[in-house]
Amino acid sequence: MQLNTPKFVNHPKLIAWVEEIAKLTKPANIEWCDGSETEYNRLIQQMISNGTMQTLNEEKHPGSYLANSDPSDVARVEDRTFICSNNKEDAGATNNWEDPTIMRGKLSKLFDGCMTGRTMYIVPFSMGPLGSHIAHIGIEITDSPYVVVSMRKMARMGKAVYDVLGTNGHFIPCVHSVGMPLLSNEKDVAWPCNKEKYIVHYPETREIWSFGSGYGGNALLGKKCLALRIASVMGREQGWLAEHMLILGITNPKGKKHYIAAAFPSACGKTNFAMLIPPKEYNGWKIETVGDDIAWIKPSEDGQLYAINPEAGFFGVAPGTNTKTNPNCMATLHKDVIYTNVAVSDTGEVWWEGLTKEAPNNLTNWKGQPHQNGEKAAHPNARFTVAASQCPSIDADWENPAGVPISAFIFGGRRADTIPLVSEAFDWVDGVYKAATMGSETTAAAVGQQGIVRRDPFAMLPFTGYNMADYFDHWLQIGEELHAKAKTHGNQPPKIFNVNWFRRDEQGNFIWPGFGQNMRVLEWIINRCDGQANATETPIGLVPEYEDINWAGSDFSIEQFEQVTNLDQDQWVQELESHYALFEKLGGRLPKALLERQELLLEKFKEDIYA
Ligand code: GTP
Ligand code: SPV
Ligand code: MN
Repeated sequence: MQLNTPKFVNHPKLIAWVEEIAKLTKPANIEWCDGSETEYNRLIQQMISNGTMQTLNEEKHPGSYLANSDPSDVARVEDRTFICSNNKEDAGATNNWEDPTIMRGKLSKLFDGCMTGRTMYIVPFSMGPLGSHIAHIGIEITDSPYVVVSMRKMARMGKAVYDVLGTNGHFIPCVHSVGMPLLSNEKDVAWPCNKEKYIVHYPETREIWSFGSGYGGNALLGKKCLALRIASVMGREQGWLAEHMLILGITNPKGKKHYIAAAFPSACGKTNFAMLIPPKEYNGWKIETVGDDIAWIKPSEDGQLYAINPEAGFFGVAPGTNTKTNPNCMATLHKDVIYTNVAVSDTGEVWWEGLTKEAPNNLTNWKGQPHQNGEKAAHPNARFTVAASQCPSIDADWENPAGVPISAFIFGGRRADTIPLVSEAFDWVDGVYKAATMGSETTAAAVGQQGIVRRDPFAMLPFTGYNMADYFDHWLQIGEELHAKAKTHGNQPPKIFNVNWFRRDEQGNFIWPGFGQNMRVLEWIINRCDGQANATETPIGLVPEYEDINWAGSDFSIEQFEQVTNLDQDQWVQELESHYALFEKLGGRLPKALLERQELLLEKFKEDIYA
């Protein structure tokens, strides 16, 4: 096996590691990716000729392509995702754990010869602006050209990374294989993958190994694996936060700008919220996008939190996206998009449920078959991959290496009932309690049953790379640090809010119109931060009355408002009791402050009930 190390790589440790992985996986060729357009186009053409990608209508979708995955490889596989810390306790009750020595043994068998007949690509990438002191560099070795072209959109990928790395810079080694050796007499399939899947993280040595899947969250290792699971471990050690959060800027008509960060679980509205266009009555208000999925957040010396988006692209949910719900996103998709698992018309135009009311005639579904009425044309977790720089609402500071200052955190689950449209936490600890106990209905973003309410603390259940109880403690400690600094510097810690866009009526319809209308809630939140909006105290937090919200141009009635905000006593008792189950599961390391908060909440709630 020829390593063919190019001139731009001068890092002996990296070269030795590549050699070691090549010996193990036995690829037919090795390609060191430089991130150039020439390389990108060559890989796309190669994937077109072997059926992985197809071209689209060049007029409607210039530079865009469609890949349809194997029907068994469409989402993250949470039950195949492992945190292999040295001690089981450090992975905690919410993560799958395996002894790292045993796991290494298993993986070395699986990876032995797994790239036979394939090309091994070496993909250098930076999460965060290249060369920034907050960025981290990873090198992904993969046998999937789909991963290479996707990484080029999702991260700062290419030769320049090696300039930053120099001869001995630190990188996070990421090994990925679709797990399907190609024998010389075999024809390749369009989407190779393996029934057996392993998404493995070694937090202490900061390594990622992924086997058997080509789907984004399992295979683009800079994203959930590095920027959340491994970064969350680093953040805890180093005093910062790696979060499943969008970041947006909001400017009021007076020109005052705030940034907020919001955590919603997978497929619960981050991309949409990040690109929100206010209703037309909101003259002079402006929303700008910093990121749509991940935030790295660091406290400054003077007690401000600064956030960066470590990514360079959007890997977003297609279904439900249209010119009414998310015009900024549709504009972002005007060119150079990689679509995965959407449907395509006979004129080469993409389609998914919710793009238009009616499906076009002669549609080919995501499985490559004629679309039948009553079936999904696009997979519910169909995605687009696109450069963030194409977004019309992208913020001027989205690549600022210093990050943007955060004024508020918002947490929101997908809940048909119980949780009101919006509430403000009483204080930091209360906010942490509510984020920690957040519940949300499961979605198509992960394999498994959908629509089941599960606890998804901080929208990080599948992404925290260590013990969830320690993660809560980390948030509490950051809060203490901010409060201490507030005394000397006067910067108040961000306020914490909870939202729920997804309450349903008896027929199962969403009551709240959502999308651009979420601006009304955001305005109240921002005005609360500026001390300029009223709130009423309830047992579960501070909430707006109907008249505290700006309804200009809306016909949302007071009765409907009542439907999305009322607090049902039975539902809340059940809700609070369900928090016990999470706390019990988390066990001894759970911070006492959270247990105390629960008691307080129950007490308050009962007082309210029986008053
Ligand atoms: P991930 O990329 O999986 O992390 O998802 P996300 O949190 O970015 O979710 P996204 O914005 O892509 O939205 C997921 C689905 O929820 C899409 O089908 C949206 O159309 C829908 N959605 C987003 N915001 C709203 C809303 O305010 N109301 C309603 N009813 N649906 C929404
Ligand atoms: C999510 O599932 O939260 C996503 C998509 O953002 S993935 O990158 O696949 O995790
Ligand atoms: Mn996500």
